Amino acid sequence: MEAQPRLDAQKLRADFPILAQEINGKPLAYLDSAVTSQKPRQVLDAMTNFYETAYANVHRGVYSLAERATEGFEGAREKVARFVNAPSSRELIFTRNATEGLNLVAYAWGLNNLGPGDLVVVSELEHHSNFVPWQYIAKRTGAGFRMIPLTEGGELDLDALEGIASEGRVKVVATNYVSNALGTINPVDRLASWAHERDAIMVVDAAQAAPHLAIDVQAIGCDFLAFSAHKMCGPSGVGALWGRRELLEKMEPFNLGGHMIRKVQFEETTWGDLPHKFEAGTSPIAEAVGFGAAVDYLNSVGLEAIEQYEHELVAYALERIQEIPGIVLYGPAPERRAGIVSFNIEGVHPHDVAQVLDWEGVAIRAGHHCCQPLMHRLGVAATNRASFYLYTLPEEIDRLAEGLLRVRKVFG
Ligand SMILES: Cc1ncc(COP(=O)(O)O)c(C=O)c1O
Repeated sequence: MEAQPRLDAQKLRADFPILAQEINGKPLAYLDSAVTSQKPRQVLDAMTNFYETAYANVHRGVYSLAERATEGFEGAREKVARFVNAPSSRELIFTRNATEGLNLVAYAWGLNNLGPGDLVVVSELEHHSNFVPWQYIAKRTGAGFRMIPLTEGGELDLDALEGIASEGRVKVVATNYVSNALGTINPVDRLASWAHERDAIMVVDAAQAAPHLAIDVQAIGCDFLAFSAHKMCGPSGVGALWGRRELLEKMEPFNLGGHMIRKVQFEETTWGDLPHKFEAGTSPIAEAVGFGAAVDYLNSVGLEAIEQYEHELVAYALERIQEIPGIVLYGPAPERRAGIVSFNIEGVHPHDVAQVLDWEGVAIRAGHHCCQPLMHRLGVAATNRASFYLYTLPEEIDRLAEGLLRVRKVFG
């Protein structure tokens, strides 16, 4: 076996034009990649080139340019499908983002398959995008809604599963693979087995996993998996939902209109084949091409190398940040989390922390991170969150730690 080449963040940074700038007179340290990642030149160039040489609407024209556009778009679908090891690219639906993919499943599967006596199981660690749609569809259908609780260490408490199952018929388990708030890597394969033992489906929110670790839907054994291009070096405006073919074929469509039909008559409309049945209207065409280029980029760096590098960055960040007086850290050990560190400084509002860091050119997030149930569990309204990616340098983490010491001085 060949050793995995180490990731060279300094070299990779040269691919990201936006990082070569100053903010408030200091070099930009972008430590907010969990909310959205920056884009390498390879992705920007692929999109510009597509617009300049191959752009037309897809699947519609018989002329050469439309065929070229369709080839670019469908080629991107192949790449994105391979990226998650989908058995077939027909099972890979382009969406606007992970949120839309999760809504698609909640509506198109949930409305017809849930009812009183059934249970939808999410976790206390969910992003609102994998919480609110299920809560809403459970209410509409009369199904129960339960959360897998968290341990003190910020991991899912799987011991609680049997208790939950005793309260009804579990029909859906929906959790994230990686938490955007704590970085926790969740055992989605074990949850998928548990769900299937009960004839339930397993829905994986991979918005935060896809940028950071190699994903294999067949190895996980899930039924649906949603993610967004913008968090993985791709453009905003496009995401993907992978779904098991048997389920997708049985489901009603989610959006209705152009492109998703087979035949439209006054009396009745019939639906097109997969994946088109779920892709109503003009698709994010150039964005999909950019998504494909992002996948190429991540593959060229190596997902294992990215994951390993992030574990190292997190371990280093936790070591450095621990030195700050009054720091409260959340989440599990570095080897069980992606490149995300959530914390508070006692007595200082997270927004003030982020503001002082901005004076130093260090961009981090402050807020509830679309995870209000988690904030409730932690007993806080908000946290600060620094998140890292393949272009993050250890020096930027040093600047974060120095900035936090400054926060301590400013606020006493
Ligand atoms: C874990 C998780 N799920 C879902 C989402 C929603 O992603 P999007 O806003 O791209 O739909 C995010 C984005 O922050 C996320 O981190």
